[in-house]
Amino acid sequence: MQYSKKVMELFTKPKNVGEIKNADGIGEVGNPSCGDMMSIYIKVGKATTGKNKGKEILKDIKFKTYGCAAAIATSSMITEMAKGKTLEDAEKLSRNDIAEELGGLPPIKMHCSNLAADGLKAAIENYRKNKAKKK
Ligand code: FES
Repeated sequence: MQYSKKVMELFTKPKNVGEIKNADGIGEVGNPSCGDMMSIYIKVGKATTGKNKGKEILKDIKFKTYGCAAAIATSSMITEMAKGKTLEDAEKLSRNDIAEELGGLPPIKMHCSNLAADGLKAAIENYRKNKAKKK
């Protein structure tokens, strides 16, 4: 099995690792096929400039993943892809989008990218629930 250069780079030096204190949304997901886990933290705010001005965007995003090289690289990649996006655009990111951006994943490792895609969706859902409760 061969990982792309980008996967190896992000596995050894992942970006946006950690936790956000007072996160607006937290997504916690597990991969049933291997037992690996991921937590993703988001901070939401309104865009002040550009075409998304006034819309809610992901101001900050961090993750903690207990998993294989593909899980760590996809987690890191989704945080980079999602940062600054509107919530609607961020939740559209699929595991295929992430894999493509990574220069591909070995077929038996595609399931690992579910963690990142599902984790982000779960964090956005959690944010919306928290917001609805505050109303
Ligand atoms: Fe568990 Fe990759 S083997 S996420």
